[in-house]
Order: sequence, then structure tokens, then C-alpha cells
Amino acid sequence: MNDPTQSLHWKALENHCSSLRKISLRDLLFEDPKRTESLTFELGNLFVDFSKQMVTEETIDLLVALANDLDLNNRIGELINGEPLNVSENRPALHTALRCPEGDITVDGENVIPLIRSALEKSFTAAEKIRSGQWLGVTGDQIKAVVNIGIGGSHLGPAMVVSALSGYCDNDVRIRFVSNIDPSSLDTELRSLDPRTTLFIINSKSFHTAETLANAHAAFQWAHDGLDGSAEVIKKHFVAITANQDVAENFGIPAENIFPTWDWVGGRFSICSPVSFSAMIAVGSENFQSILNGCYKIDNHFRATDLKANVPALMGMIAVWNRNFLGHTNHAVVPYSTDLHKFPLYLQQLEMESNGKHVREDGSRVSTKTSPIILSGVGTDAQHSFFQFLHQGTEVIPVDFIAFSNPSLSSGSLDRELVSRQHQALLANCFAQSKALAIGSESSTETFSSDGNRPNTTVLGTHLDPFTLGQLIALYEHKVFTMGVLWRINSFDQWGVQFGKLLAETISNDLDNPTGFSDHDSSTKSLLARYQKSREI
Ligand code: F6P
Repeated sequence: MNDPTQSLHWKALENHCSSLRKISLRDLLFEDPKRTESLTFELGNLFVDFSKQMVTEETIDLLVALANDLDLNNRIGELINGEPLNVSENRPALHTALRCPEGDITVDGENVIPLIRSALEKSFTAAEKIRSGQWLGVTGDQIKAVVNIGIGGSHLGPAMVVSALSGYCDNDVRIRFVSNIDPSSLDTELRSLDPRTTLFIINSKSFHTAETLANAHAAFQWAHDGLDGSAEVIKKHFVAITANQDVAENFGIPAENIFPTWDWVGGRFSICSPVSFSAMIAVGSENFQSILNGCYKIDNHFRATDLKANVPALMGMIAVWNRNFLGHTNHAVVPYSTDLHKFPLYLQQLEMESNGKHVREDGSRVSTKTSPIILSGVGTDAQHSFFQFLHQGTEVIPVDFIAFSNPSLSSGSLDRELVSRQHQALLANCFAQSKALAIGSESSTETFSSDGNRPNTTVLGTHLDPFTLGQLIALYEHKVFTMGVLWRINSFDQWGVQFGKLLAETISNDLDNPTGFSDHDSSTKSLLARYQKSREI
């Protein structure tokens, strides 16, 4: 079946949705004491509460029936076994293989598991060498700062891990990220760095991305100038992560400094590969391995659990319910953890680049809405910015709350008792927002009342540790995959991004061309003309 709306269960869900509109979440939550039994789940050390979603058991049964019509179980098997699910590029999407400790998953006749393990071992060894001060620059100084130059999947995942596990960054090497082609990005980072003690990671699966190459060339120039043009600069101060080894070698990076990723791992799904080399340096290989173990736990759950109790699949199914049946355009992800503030930004690429599609995998136009807009924030800051809209705005925005029963590791400089009390206040805010959104508040004055009925999920972990972070990563990866399967879209390509990249190349030539422009529209021509009049360098 290529059009999900042709499933009888899609129609049944539409009818069910009309009848459910007469019921309030407040009634469901207060009048059905069994509700939490069927809608909350223990998964590893995560507790996942779907009971504040606008669903009943019947909704879940119908969603599972729809998922069965769309062959979700088989698709999960195909994903994990390396079938070429990325049909427009004719390749698998094997991010699950990255954390699979052993087995036989074949791509083009080769078992990729040993390949992955040896790439991870190579990056772990190099990361430990940097962490222990054994990696020396051309002047014989230890490396004290590492700059990851990469964008999209070659930036957001590793940057998220480094900040999420800041309490596990147990060495003196500072990790920096430069992604934007805006020269001030690199300039700002380099201002406080010393070329003698800086290592650059040129992180690009394709090694063709304009932003990354521009920053890589500028960084090389900076290091070369700062180190008196030593021929050893590229060898001792540059490493590459790429699936395109030849191009990296042409750039000058020696083979021993190149760590592989592969074209059968999507950039935004590559967080468990050497793409996270910067994070391995930050937290060490043991902690990084724990992230992989956390992901693997969820992979096994996703593969083996009945859809009715399959947490990532349920997350995906409920997200489709919210998007297509309840009609919610947006989705907010709000961790109540400052360390996790980059998680929603990482999810924006994961969800919106994967599922922001208007064609199905067979090339036909979709007949349903696809990815919601992912709104990102961190609690309690978000409460003081956009939560007013969540409570009383004219659009309903479902929310994922992510919180932990215990505070993140800290330097230990604050009083323990105070930390514990403050963390309790943080959690109280999280639970209060979740409750307020669901049940609303009644007042004789409209101005003071909130309607409630605003669906939300709470994911409550014990600690934000590497294993738990791994679980969260895989949970959302599989949620996104589930949504793609239900919409029959290919979650692993991103053709929409290509057109803008090509246009930027043409426009880049025209910015330097004062006489004639290519065949641009009138607005673009006027912007080019205005730029040429006002440019100073
Ligand atoms: O945004 C488009 C994209 O192709 C992403 O999918 C990818 O993560 C990013 O660019 C960077 O690509 P690369 O790692 O090849 O430089």
C-alpha cells in the first residue's frame, strides 16, 4: 500500500477522531484510573508517559492496525538488516549497525560490522591519544583545543553529545564547533586559540559541502601562517571524517588521519560513527561506548517488541495521530535540563530533514501532511518565552517533556542540599507544565482560564548519563523512521536541500559580476545590485 489514506484503518481513525473530540483530557485523566497502566512504559532506565496524549486504548489499537497495514514490523526488520530503504539513492540506512556489537550485516557483499568496529577502534585510539596529551603538534606541544568543522549531521549530533555530557568531559581539551560559512564563526572561535595546540577535525561525509570546505581552507591558512608554514601542519593538526577518502587525501590529509563514515549511513543518523570524534575526545571511549550500548538497547526493543508496547513506534504513531488526525502543525521538544539544550536542535534536522517531504518513496505526491515543525526550547527558560502560546495560544502544540530524577553531574562546587532542592523545583515545574497543558484551568474570567486538552508526553530518566543519552537518541531516530513508514516517504534522502545549494553557486558567481547577472528574478537582481553598491571589501 503506497497511500496510507487508502487503509480502512485510516478512515476508522478519522471517525474515531470525531467522536474523541467530545471528550476532554481532564476527564480521561481523572475518570480512568487504569489509563496510566496502559499508556506508561518502563524502557531501560526511562519512564515514558503517553497518558497525557489525546488518545484512548481504541486510538492505540487503530494506530497499530494502521501500522500493520503499512507493514511497519517488516520495515523495521528491513531497516536493521540493511535493505536499501533509501530508494532514491539505492542504499541502506544502517545507523543501527553502528552500535551492533557483532553479527553479519552485508552491504555490497561485505559484512559491515567488523568494518564499523575497526573504524570505531581507530577513532577511540586517536581520541585517547589526544586526551592523554600524547598527540603532539608541530612544535611538540600537546593538543589543548579541538575544532570540529562540519555542518548539519556532521555538527549537530556531536555538538549535542558534548554539551549533554558536559559533566563527563574530564580532561583539559576544549572542544569547539564551527559550522556556518559566516567567516565570523571561525574567527570568533580562533580568537582564543593557539595554532600550536589546536587540532581541526574536517567533518564531512561527502567532503564537498561548501561551508565545511571554506572553513577548512581558512583554518588551514590560519594554522599554516601561525606555524611558520611548516610542512607538517596538515599531518599533525588536521584529521578528517568522511566517506570520500580520496577527496580528503587530495586536500592533503594523510590516510592515517582519516576516519571513515559510509554512504549507507545518513548524515543526521551518523551520531554513533566516527562523525562524533569530537565527542569521543570530550567524554572518552568508554563513555562513548555506553552511548552506543544505550542505542543498542532501544534498537533491540524496536526490533522485537509488539507494536502495542513498542515505545519508539508508539511515539511515531502518536505523532502521526497528532499531525494528521488532530491536525497539529507544530511539535515542541522541551528538555528540563540545560545540558540537553542542544537536543531539540539536533532533532530539528533529524525530524524535519528526514520527514519534511511532499513526495512518497514511489515518487507520487503525498495526500497527507508530513513532518511537523519542531519547536525547540529548554525548561524553565521556555516557560518564560513561548509557553504562554502553549497554554492559551490559538494553535495546539503537542509537547515532549524530557526530564531526569537526578541533577546532572556538576563540578561539586555547589552545596548538595541546595542542588537537590533546586533540582526538585525544576522537576516540579516540568510536571506542573505537563499537567496544566493537559487539564487546563477554569476561572469565571476567560482571561485567566486555559482550555487544557493540550497533548504532551513526558520522558523521565534517572540521570542524564551516556547510556541514557544513547537511549534517547535511538528513541527519536526510530520515532522518525516510524513516521516515515506510515507516510510512505523516504526518511533518508534530502533532495529539497540540493536546489538551494546549486543556486548559491550561481549567485556566488554573480556577486562578483558587476555587468550582467544570470537569469534571475527581479527581486534577486535587485538584491545583487544593492549588494554591489554597498559592499566595502
Ligand atoms: O543539509 C544537507 C546535508 O547534506 C545534510 O544531510 C548533511 O548532514 C549535511 O548536509 C552535511 O553534509 P556533509 O557531511 O557531506 O558535509
